[in-house]
Amino acid sequence: MNEEAGNRVSVTHEWWRTAVIYQVYPRSFADGNGDGVGDLAGIAARLPYLSALGVDAIWFSPWYPSPMADAGYDVADHRDIDPAFGTLAEAEELIARAHALEIRTIVDIVPNHCSDRHPWFLEAVAAGPGSAARELFWFRDGRGPDGELPPNNWQSIFGGPAWTRLPDGQWYLHLFAPEQPDLNWRNPKVREEFEDILRFWFERGVDGVRIDSAPVVAKDPTLADFDPAAPPSPHPYEDRDEVHDIYRAWRAVADSYPQRRALIGEVWLPDPARFARYLSPDELHTAFNFDFLGCAWDAVALRRCIDATLVTHAPVNAPATWVLANHDVTRTVTRYGRADTAFSHAARGMRHGSPSDLALGTRRARAAALLSLALPGSVYLYQGEELGLEEVEDIPDGLRQDPIFRRTKGADPGRDGCRVPLPWSGQGPPFGFSPDGAAGEPWLPQPAAWRDLTAEVQDGAPGSMLELYRAALRLRRQLSGPGDAELRWLDTDRDVLAFTRGDDVACVVNLSGGPTRLPEHRGVLLASGRLEGDLLPSDTAVWLRR
Ligand code: GLC
Repeated sequence: MNEEAGNRVSVTHEWWRTAVIYQVYPRSFADGNGDGVGDLAGIAARLPYLSALGVDAIWFSPWYPSPMADAGYDVADHRDIDPAFGTLAEAEELIARAHALEIRTIVDIVPNHCSDRHPWFLEAVAAGPGSAARELFWFRDGRGPDGELPPNNWQSIFGGPAWTRLPDGQWYLHLFAPEQPDLNWRNPKVREEFEDILRFWFERGVDGVRIDSAPVVAKDPTLADFDPAAPPSPHPYEDRDEVHDIYRAWRAVADSYPQRRALIGEVWLPDPARFARYLSPDELHTAFNFDFLGCAWDAVALRRCIDATLVTHAPVNAPATWVLANHDVTRTVTRYGRADTAFSHAARGMRHGSPSDLALGTRRARAAALLSLALPGSVYLYQGEELGLEEVEDIPDGLRQDPIFRRTKGADPGRDGCRVPLPWSGQGPPFGFSPDGAAGEPWLPQPAAWRDLTAEVQDGAPGSMLELYRAALRLRRQLSGPGDAELRWLDTDRDVLAFTRGDDVACVVNLSGGPTRLPEHRGVLLASGRLEGDLLPSDTAVWLRR
């Protein structure tokens, strides 16, 4: 079919509109060389697993050379692969092998900052105050008689001040860790560099990029103080209008290739109208739905979120995305098993370690999987969700690696608990994550209880999370038809979500405390738990043929 044949056809050609995209966190997916850290050889060996799972695309969290101060989000060279993960040739081979299995690939681009070991930053430090090399970053003299106070009151998103002082007396800005100096996007060299990095990966065949921290790249050049409780508008660094010009230029790069490339934004913004601006037809194609990701397991809240999502995306004709988890947030099974089932970064420290009924959390995570896979748009699946892994909350402090843990002095445990290496097989650690007889232990310890959650145990086991995901992904492909089919709510109790997609499929999710009667239907396609005749038990979802 050609794209000129009409809007509808071109829409169905835009793979990112309905894709199921699997996030690989390379450190923790699979270790091919036995050093206890995941790598590209490990991923390559598991591609058949991802193909059998039925995903349409893989998003690779950063795999570039990095000192790993923020697990790879401190990039020292955007055009190579960290030796701990492999080589550029292996990455090219992996992209090609994924394509041969009809799996598209997405790489992570981190524009807000680079590593403090990036050649640009090393040069800037060496060149000294007033140098052109420092213009690529935000270097300033400090305040106070000897410049001993930071240039302004901005705080790092990871805790502590957003400025670090060098021995020569100047300070540099880092919205995240000190090892992640912020780039100065007012400088044309920064813009040219990133457009070239995009071309570098598009020319290696990647089908899209995930844009890290997309809304914070532009800064108020006056670097004025502000009250974070009542930030001025425009905000000094969040969601400034200038960012749109940057992403319009990126879109032009993406559109310069005959095969469509997708731009996917990490856009955490509370205001839906501001969020939608990133999805204008000449900017990003999609952005993660963090409202859905943070939403409590509550029918009213979820319905409100789904409706708001669809209303936000419709005017810009962008596909919604449905995300339950990623490498930054508490795993779904743990979250849904707690009394407080919502997620927010601000409350992570407070909720950490609060009791979680994992059996209940798993039941809800299963239902949530069927819910998200039935909604119109694309779905992001974070590695290990398909195995029903829980958050590992008892990592000893000495082993925690996330800078958030250190920078908040332990008030926030950070994100290590969702980054524990995957269990593939066997009775004890490393659970097939590393090959037999490996020299290195997994870089974070795996719980012994994961012996019951390995991919091996779940493979072919009726009722396992893995088989639920496989069946759902298979059906989603068969049923998807026009992927953008409208969602219509069915009339139900307040605590039940029920909707149709197109003419013949309905999804019902029971979030009430007791069973609910199924609406009229011609058959059950898939259920997240056992049905009792025509009754759908609580915390269970079903796909019905109408
Ligand atoms: C994004 C990433 C997160 C990282 C941060 C700084 O939020 O998802 O993992 O720490 O950006 O790059």
